[in-house]
Amino acid sequence: MNYHVLTLFPQMVLNGLHTSIIGRAEEKGLLHIEAIDIRDYAENKHMRVDDYPYGGGAGMVMQPGPVYGAYQALSDRLGKRPRVIYLTPQGRVFSQSLAEEYSKEEDLVFLCGHYEGIDERVLELIVTDYVSIGDYVLTGGELPAMVMIDCISRLVPGVLSNDVSAEFETFHDSLLEYPQYTRPETFMEKSVPEVLLSGHHGNIDKWRREQSVIRTAKFRPDLLPFADLSEKEKELLKT
Ligand code: ADE
Repeated sequence: MNYHVLTLFPQMVLNGLHTSIIGRAEEKGLLHIEAIDIRDYAENKHMRVDDYPYGGGAGMVMQPGPVYGAYQALSDRLGKRPRVIYLTPQGRVFSQSLAEEYSKEEDLVFLCGHYEGIDERVLELIVTDYVSIGDYVLTGGELPAMVMIDCISRLVPGVLSNDVSAEFETFHDSLLEYPQYTRPETFMEKSVPEVLLSGHHGNIDKWRREQSVIRTAKFRPDLLPFADLSEKEKELLKT
């Protein structure tokens, strides 16, 4: 998977992602993250990339030329027109299922805006996907791009040490994950549930599934209509 982040703050993206699991995956050659500085494509000697909005109003708008220049150099280099994700609170809300879809791509471009946004004309020309990471407003698209890269990367085969670990986690089948415990067996007078110490895998699986259903009903009842529940589980929730 190759990520190409078009940004005015390349160091923010690179410093934030070259650590931990993502850093190791890069070393293994499973991922590559490049940050392309939009300012390198500025069209004036002062390297300015923003200007006042036509029609007036607060703040500055990123000019179309530098963004288009950065995109064109990249697509020439790749020899194709890649999928371009523009991070904006006006976009479709990011989700685990969208992450699964993106994890199958070979190249993904993230376009990060700043100030009051980017000139609409260049967005119309190059953007294929408008994506938000939630209903709140941030100062730029870099953090959303990093959130998405983190989430997508852990779905790329080989990135997580254990491939099955992305399979039985929160949002799988629209259910939250069951609670986890490790040593010690008793902590502050609270014991690990008996069944997890029993070694009986059938009972453990049954308990975990039940906990997932109960948790989802408690914390995210909005997910339940999308979960594939048995008649018995539906009954359990009525009690
Ligand atoms: N840029 C500013 N806020 C954002 C958000 N919530 N999601 C994506 N991009 C953004």
